[in-house]
Amino acid sequence: MGRVVLVTGGAGYVGSHTVVELLKAGHTVVVVDNCVNAAKATEGNVLPPALERVQKIAGKTLHFHELSLLNRQALVNVFSKYKVDVVIHLAALKAVGESVEKPLAYYANNITGTLNLLEVMSEVGVKRLIFSSSATVYGVPQYLPADEKHPTGVGVTNPYGQTKYVCEQIMKDLSIADKEWRIVLLRYFNPVGSHESGLIGEDPNGIPNNLVPYISQVAIGRRPHVNVFGNDYNTPDGTGVRDYIHVVDLAIGHEVAIDKIFQSDFAGTKAYNLGTGKGISVLEMITAFSEACGKEISYKIVGRREGDVATVVASCALAEKELNWKATRGLHQMCEDTWRWQSMNPNGFS
Ligand code: UD1
Repeated sequence: MGRVVLVTGGAGYVGSHTVVELLKAGHTVVVVDNCVNAAKATEGNVLPPALERVQKIAGKTLHFHELSLLNRQALVNVFSKYKVDVVIHLAALKAVGESVEKPLAYYANNITGTLNLLEVMSEVGVKRLIFSSSATVYGVPQYLPADEKHPTGVGVTNPYGQTKYVCEQIMKDLSIADKEWRIVLLRYFNPVGSHESGLIGEDPNGIPNNLVPYISQVAIGRRPHVNVFGNDYNTPDGTGVRDYIHVVDLAIGHEVAIDKIFQSDFAGTKAYNLGTGKGISVLEMITAFSEACGKEISYKIVGRREGDVATVVASCALAEKELNWKATRGLHQMCEDTWRWQSMNPNGFS
């Protein structure tokens, strides 16, 4: 059944892919985004380029409002324009290193922004929410694969991670205080890949922090080599192992969470891991990407990055059981699709 879905941060990487899946499923989509991390609409256009392309892929139109969640009144105005059924809240600052340098900006944007959103939703009586959380809430995993019962908030090493943890807590407390709230926390592992059309993808500002966008920029010739952060971890090849998930699988996870939240027996706040359950090392990723792009990717082994851990892998059994969701796109497709996006758009959206 088609719902009216408000997506905060819908012009970003995960957002644009999620909006495609929502439109394809027949939902009406209202995107709000301040475009600090997404290319802005160019002269004469209403929509940011990512959303123009989303409409092209889906063959459907969407609504867009450029605003910051820190602007409470602007948010009130948007809610008064549409009869929103459910909110998918993705808008956040997300660069781990930057969050260490600018903690106040991260706490203000991610936590105050979320509080404004929750307050306005409470006022207008929209009490269904899907929240973009992260495996970062598990800190240094105490056991693997990490399932949803794993302790959270212990050993979270940076302000970005803290904001995700605090937002989760706020949402849990809210749904305890007011039984009308229904909240799904989606804990992403490492999103990579792009839509198969090559029209949308990740377009990081400046030097990429994350592995796959970095490899991809080396492949296109924007950077000379990948720095591999340590090969002395206790993993099969010594490099860090992560649970990479194709962004389209992740996007579909949001769409199925909508069905879940509308089930009559759904109550309170529920967390689900979205990953594949499979660990891939840095060197395996570099090899797979080399195969996908048909070029040798040069790399250098350098020292460990502060705050990194050897292995993070998800247990996704709960999402499979309760959301009937499972990631289906493998390593090869993650690399092929990333490469298609990168080679069709060497400079991203600009
Ligand atoms: C990081 C964040 C996490 C966030 C996630 C989003 C940290 C500590 N964690 O996860 O909070 O939710 O991104 O996707 O930053 N690597 C290299 N060379 C590089 C970049 C990365 O060797 O240039 C290695 C890392 O050491 C790690 C792996 O690649 O082993 C993945 O790194 P990255 O893509 O940054 O993701 P995470 O660190 O897992």
